[in-house]
Amino acid sequence: MKERLEQIKNCALQAIESASSMDELNEVKVRYLGKKGELSQLLKGMKNVAPEERPKVGQMVNDARQLIEAGFDKEKELIFKKIREEKMKREVIDVTLPGTKVNVGHRHPNQIAQEDLERVFIGMGYEVVEGPEVEYDRYNFELLNIPADHPAKDEQDTFYITKDILLRTQTSSVQARIMETGRMPIRVVSPGRVFRSDEVDATHSPSFHQFEGLVVDKNITFADLKGTLQQWAQEFFGPETKVKFRPHHFPFTEPSAEVDVSCFKCGGKGCRMCKGSGWIEILGCGMVHPKVLADCGIDPEEYSGFAFGIGLERVTMLKYEIDDMRLLYENDARFLKQF
Ligand code: DAH
Repeated sequence: MKERLEQIKNCALQAIESASSMDELNEVKVRYLGKKGELSQLLKGMKNVAPEERPKVGQMVNDARQLIEAGFDKEKELIFKKIREEKMKREVIDVTLPGTKVNVGHRHPNQIAQEDLERVFIGMGYEVVEGPEVEYDRYNFELLNIPADHPAKDEQDTFYITKDILLRTQTSSVQARIMETGRMPIRVVSPGRVFRSDEVDATHSPSFHQFEGLVVDKNITFADLKGTLQQWAQEFFGPETKVKFRPHHFPFTEPSAEVDVSCFKCGGKGCRMCKGSGWIEILGCGMVHPKVLADCGIDPEEYSGFAFGIGLERVTMLKYEIDDMRLLYENDARFLKQF
């Protein structure tokens, strides 16, 4: 019996060592330690052992069992380690690859347009940041060179929670927040929902979305702004797209401009989409006003920057030729499932 026990023990340890998966290992365990396994079978032969020998033999069988179990636990650890290592090898992340989002089912057209915009700017090295929708007057207006009595505040009336806290009217509020952190250089885009006291019609809504951009660094010029937006327009609307800068006024940029892109439907000849002009107005932009830089704690002698703001719904509606903004908010499945 002693010899048989020794044999079982050695076979079991060998089998355990050569098991290469948890399934194989469990099989070995059942074969040797299971209810009907080798050790149990051996114990059945106990009746042939002289009664005074039985405790000693029993002890030997128990020792063998413990040894086999220890071997089993050790092998289990090895197999888990191997599985972990293989998984680590398979799941290496290539940080140089562009980010991807997996979506199942339909996506809202605004979401598609926003992700397309993000992709282009991430490709140019921008970071996507988000700010709060419930905002301080200080970030939405004050730090953007729009003091309490400024007429721009009338155009951008909104819901006030208190005198100083409101639903933000523009994503430009995020600019002030980012600049205030003092981390340089800045190269960010900021998408998000904004609110205004507007009546609902085919082109207006009290809640819509903007896509803001901000770059601040040493030696940033208007040429950088022009090059950036030209590059963006070509990637977003097609390689033939031209951009046109028209002088404009925004309180927080100086000089400021509105930007038109050549109509991507007719290529600039004039059609229904561009109302016959060949151009489509697409965004506002400019060089960050020195006062805004200074108020946000950045030395305008050392740093300069540019900013731009795109109306997301406008881009979405142009891209998909949607002629009524209300369609974007009604959540009508017949509309949404087209995307
Ligand atoms: N915040 C402006 C608006 O709501 C849009 C805008 C214009 C943003 C010029 C900018 C900018 O960053 O530079 O009308």
